Amino acid sequence: MRKFLVAGNWKMNTNRQSGVALAAEMAAVAKTGEPGVEVLVCPPYPYLLPVADALKGSAVSLGAQDVYFEAPGAFTGAVAVEMLKDCGCQYVILGHSERRHVMGETDEVINRKVRAALRGGLKVILCVGELLKEREGGLTEKVLDTQMQGGLADVSEQDAGQIVIAYEPVWAIGTGVTATPEQAESAHEHLRKWLTSRYNATFSGQMQILYGGSVKADNAESLLGQSNVDGALVGGASLKAASFVPIIEAARKLWK
Ligand code: PGA
Repeated sequence: MRKFLVAGNWKMNTNRQSGVALAAEMAAVAKTGEPGVEVLVCPPYPYLLPVADALKGSAVSLGAQDVYFEAPGAFTGAVAVEMLKDCGCQYVILGHSERRHVMGETDEVINRKVRAALRGGLKVILCVGELLKEREGGLTEKVLDTQMQGGLADVSEQDAGQIVIAYEPVWAIGTGVTATPEQAESAHEHLRKWLTSRYNATFSGQMQILYGGSVKADNAESLLGQSNVDGALVGGASLKAASFVPIIEAARKLWK
């Protein structure tokens, strides 16, 4: 059975003090050696080190929200894979809709980042998802196919073993509107079929596919209860232990 991954994407939020305090609360909640549920937090770059300190000795994993694809050098403002590793990151989120639609990242750029991260030994959470007008136009699956094809271009089966997919319908991110469990399951099923045809059924069956978009305490159990939903990528509700812990609890309940 696939493990659940419950990931907090803090986006451009928190400060050093609140980030460290939140990390310490999460460290107290995540149990070492828990078989079925992994907890991950992804703070902004400047807080990676203090958050890593606060997580030390706990079962909470650390991730970044983006990375640049080049090796260290003259790239003003950019952060390299090995720097993230040096700060204690195991994961990096790539292809988030805010990077795609606010910062204008293309599938080609995302793919270069995916390959650089994998080459450098980071696990990748690759986000894919359609805009509202694309869903309304019946284009959801086509958009997902394009983003998967682009993001995973030239990624071997062996390397893809370090990837987690996150299905995040753009219309559900930060809006309070959540995909219904049926809409999420249908997209996840489609993604798993795509992975089967690109790689193979065994591989596809092992890959974690997270749902993201207004996941909260009161909808987590029904979303995570879908057979192809293997966790959550949580934005707003990950900024307070009181709203994030119930999502972890929902995963624990379903795992038993
Ligand atoms: P949200 O964000 O939970 O605030 O909708 C999810 C995400 O963008 O990963």
